[in-house]
Amino acid sequence: MKLKLLSFLICFFVIGQFTGNAQGKSLIINTKAIIAPIQPTMWGLFFEDINFAADGGIYAELVKNRSFEFYKPLMGWKNIGEEYAGQLQIVNSQNENNPRFVQLQINDGKEFSLENEGFRGMGVVAGENYDFSILARQTNGNTTLKIELLDSAGVAIGNSELKNFSGEWKKYETKFSCSKTQAKASLRLTFSGKGIIEIDLVSLFPEHTWKNRKNGLRADLVQKLADMKPGFLRFPGGCIVEGHELETRYQWKKTVGNVDERKLIVNRWNTEFSYRNAPDYFQSYGLGFYEYFLLCEDIGASPLPILNCGMACEFNSSELVPLDKLDPYIQDILDLIEFANGAPTTKWGKLRADMGHPTPFNLKMVGVGNEQWGTQYIDRLKIFLKVLREKHPEISFVGGSGPFSDGQDFDYLWSQMRELNVPLVDEHYYKSPEWFLKNASRYDNYDRKGPKVFAGEYAAHDKEGKDSESRNTWKSALAEAALMTGLERNADVVYMASYAPLFGNVNAWQWRPDLIWFDNLKSVGTPNYYVQKLFSTNKGTDLVSALVDGKPLAGQDSLYASACIDAATSELIVKLVNVAKKPNVLNLQMDGKQATGKKLTLQIIANSNLGAHNKVGKQEEVAPVERKQKITGKRIVVNLDASSLTVARIPIRK
Ligand code: AHR
Repeated sequence: MKLKLLSFLICFFVIGQFTGNAQGKSLIINTKAIIAPIQPTMWGLFFEDINFAADGGIYAELVKNRSFEFYKPLMGWKNIGEEYAGQLQIVNSQNENNPRFVQLQINDGKEFSLENEGFRGMGVVAGENYDFSILARQTNGNTTLKIELLDSAGVAIGNSELKNFSGEWKKYETKFSCSKTQAKASLRLTFSGKGIIEIDLVSLFPEHTWKNRKNGLRADLVQKLADMKPGFLRFPGGCIVEGHELETRYQWKKTVGNVDERKLIVNRWNTEFSYRNAPDYFQSYGLGFYEYFLLCEDIGASPLPILNCGMACEFNSSELVPLDKLDPYIQDILDLIEFANGAPTTKWGKLRADMGHPTPFNLKMVGVGNEQWGTQYIDRLKIFLKVLREKHPEISFVGGSGPFSDGQDFDYLWSQMRELNVPLVDEHYYKSPEWFLKNASRYDNYDRKGPKVFAGEYAAHDKEGKDSESRNTWKSALAEAALMTGLERNADVVYMASYAPLFGNVNAWQWRPDLIWFDNLKSVGTPNYYVQKLFSTNKGTDLVSALVDGKPLAGQDSLYASACIDAATSELIVKLVNVAKKPNVLNLQMDGKQATGKKLTLQIIANSNLGAHNKVGKQEEVAPVERKQKITGKRIVVNLDASSLTVARIPIRK
């Protein structure tokens, strides 16, 4: 008797585990009637050089202010050594792009040292090799250069030497290995001998970078992007496109060609927020437009460059280019299209080929303006579109709806976008998690005949906490997941979406939350990252309907859902969000093609602590887990954990 009771309990428990109880609502999924294709671009990335995302982030250069071009030429550097060891001067050669260099006079028998602090220190790894290079010329005498990597106590953990410098400017290179992992190392250059030596472009990179390209990108950070299988990459921003004023706008032509000749400019996030001042934030453009295109190619993302439309940031200077002086700005876009797609026989196509990429980058979309608003934007956009459409009918030119998610300015811009027949309209929303939940139905009633939506910048902004990463709570990510079911459910009108911003350096950020946090050695995906990744890697090819009582599931009983087919693998993909603090159950019922095979896969992110967040270098609190579930009949019962996102992949008949 006892045995019978025990086996009954075991059966009850096991079946309960795999099939759940049969109480929940029925989600009826019509697997035969395709509503719309899901665009290959549906889930993508937004990259902006904010929060030290480029220099001090994904661009693996370890030396800050390598060419002495910051406002203060020795920012990031300090000279040390005995008194009367020598003399340091900053010389301005008037050379257009990289005018300043350091001139050192070394007194006989003395040592003169310069130390670079890196970007809040240098992250170096035991056993890794480092590529050092320097531009130098010996105008007098003979000098030896000792190169040392120092740990935080000032002890050498790697070194090399260069000597016999010529009287002409020349690049000198050496490689050395590092004996100790350090998050805050520094670089010391010690000159000895006698005479005058001039130096510029001091550089140090790890040998191992993304795809092991010399002087390339940080592999761990790019890997996180590649893992998302993004449909597109929007670059270079963001407000950085506009500049605080026009002078500091992003100009792509200054970011291509020989890295050593790219002209550094201030980063517009440098002193934007007084509470997060970063006066040492500049753009070396080591990561420039060529590298962005290459990155897109590497991670299989469609490039979406956004270019300035003759307007500086309207939150800052609001500086405008007069309507009759827009030609150089329009020409920048025309030339960019030639740089990306033109034959190597064209001027800009040749530059691309000379840089190492003779085949085109297959550019199909360009954004005109970032977060502009008002008639001043529309007046300019009209002029741009007239020329651009005539010359490049094959390119989609993307317009914007400003920084506001609704209201008068937003409505005005949308009405203008319709009139101008803009194919894609960029929408931005940085809002509370509650707003995200409410807006899961935002696109249900959007006009199906007009322009398509590009949700180009969005993030749920939860309360701030002490840790840099603390605003990336599970609550915010869950709310985004709920909204994203709404984006997917409306895939006939929403063509693209990207969370913003992408990266945050824990020691040097200006804006949070961000999708991926990092320090000098490590990085972590936030809960929001894992939500994005689950949607993006389960994108599917065709949208199908998923209804409860004849209606989309968008908040009833705290549940949200969307469904699509993956034609390539013959699977039904159902995304289910439960924002309630208690578990729930849904019965999936297929109308049309039925489930086949023995098992379905569930990828689940769940955490009952809505404030949970992931921290760099710590065990992750929020991350997906995978479960298999038996397919036992036509109805599939899915148990939904409290506060969870569940993605079910169900094999269906062909
Ligand atoms: O993502 C951060 C900023 O937010 C972007 O630069 C800008 O477009 C928006 O205001």
